[in-house]
Amino acid sequence: MVKVSLEGTTKFIEESEIHGIDSQKALIDMVTLEESGWVNLPREYNAKLSEEIKAVASKIREQSDVLVVLGIGGSYLGARAAIEFVVSPNYNSLPKETPDIYFAGNNASAEYLQEIITLIGDRDYSVNVISKSGSTIETSIALRFFKTMLLEKYGNDGLKERLYVTTDKKGSPLRDMAAREGYECLEMPPRVGGRYSVLTVVGLLPCAVAGIDIDEMMSGALEEMETGIDDACLYASVRQVLYRKGKKIELLASFEPAFRYMGEWWKQLFGESEGKEGIGIFPAYADYTADLHSLGQYIQEGERTLMETFVSFGSSRVDLKVPGGNIHSDKIGTLAGMSLHEINTAAETAVRNAHIDGGVPVIDLKVPSISAFSYGALVYFFERSCAVSAMISGVIPFGQPGVEAYKKNLYAILGL
Ligand code: PA5
Repeated sequence: MVKVSLEGTTKFIEESEIHGIDSQKALIDMVTLEESGWVNLPREYNAKLSEEIKAVASKIREQSDVLVVLGIGGSYLGARAAIEFVVSPNYNSLPKETPDIYFAGNNASAEYLQEIITLIGDRDYSVNVISKSGSTIETSIALRFFKTMLLEKYGNDGLKERLYVTTDKKGSPLRDMAAREGYECLEMPPRVGGRYSVLTVVGLLPCAVAGIDIDEMMSGALEEMETGIDDACLYASVRQVLYRKGKKIELLASFEPAFRYMGEWWKQLFGESEGKEGIGIFPAYADYTADLHSLGQYIQEGERTLMETFVSFGSSRVDLKVPGGNIHSDKIGTLAGMSLHEINTAAETAVRNAHIDGGVPVIDLKVPSISAFSYGALVYFFERSCAVSAMISGVIPFGQPGVEAYKKNLYAILGL
């Protein structure tokens, strides 16, 4: 499904350097570590789980015009990315039957929170708080606000009806709170880490509320799981070969703005999995062609520590033709009638060639289309290649001990 092409790297590395990497061993070691975790999620997904998630989603859709998802990092990025990619970055502004979805609890900004409260206005809303640990401070603070507001608006019974908790089965204070106070609790599979959890109820419930076909999404992940080992290992290996040659930063880029939040999700996945023990490729994301007018100069001529990965789609769900007619006195008359998909593809070729000539190797990831199926496949492809890449570099991809440092400081400053 996700196909890797290395044409844009041949000027920088030899094929033998890629073959010199034992990615299969890294894969086996990684799977041994995660056997009962995220690795098997697409295979474990079944009709019962699908029905359970869809039943909660339809309850939310019936009771509310708005769903507020509280969570940070792996507890929200995947769902937000799916909604933007599969439906639209302007999901909330579209005419639709499904509720608007706002994401909060992913920062500690009063401005941000107040704006969401204002946007909800008088509308009926439900809240899905998502936290694996159940103790993340930004999410816990937002939850206090929304519990208080739900109670004021709907009373205690309404609060119980409208607050949905997604958390770990054991050891989560949120789980205890849900049991004590009577909220519906959706359990995360125990051995799945936060940033690898989008293909669980963590990502699937908000997606189902947004009307995304979660069965299609999981079918895409399953197809990728069953057929995508070689491409995932190839991507992992080539990244590591380039890193060893001084390409310390990977800029993931797409020419489809709908992919932007997948870039955010990808940054967390790769950053937290690989950036350990003083090593790791720094993950960055760029939205093309927009960012060519901000980062383009640096990419073309700045320090030569960059590699790029382009994600492109074989087809576009819509196509438009450049208008003709004699009201236009610009210099692009010859483009009249040309399809935007064709122009976007031409832009991609132009950028790829310019960057390669400028000393930036480009890895290409090709996906047939923008769809729920592709989303599932891309998620699984990136999870697998990220974990293999980290293992090749000698770090364990799972766990994020470095994230604790700021949390400890914040707890100390706040006297918690
Ligand atoms: O990958 C991870 O586990 C983390 O980055 C989490 O996603 C993030 O810290 C949020 O944690 P929690 O879901 O426990 O609130």
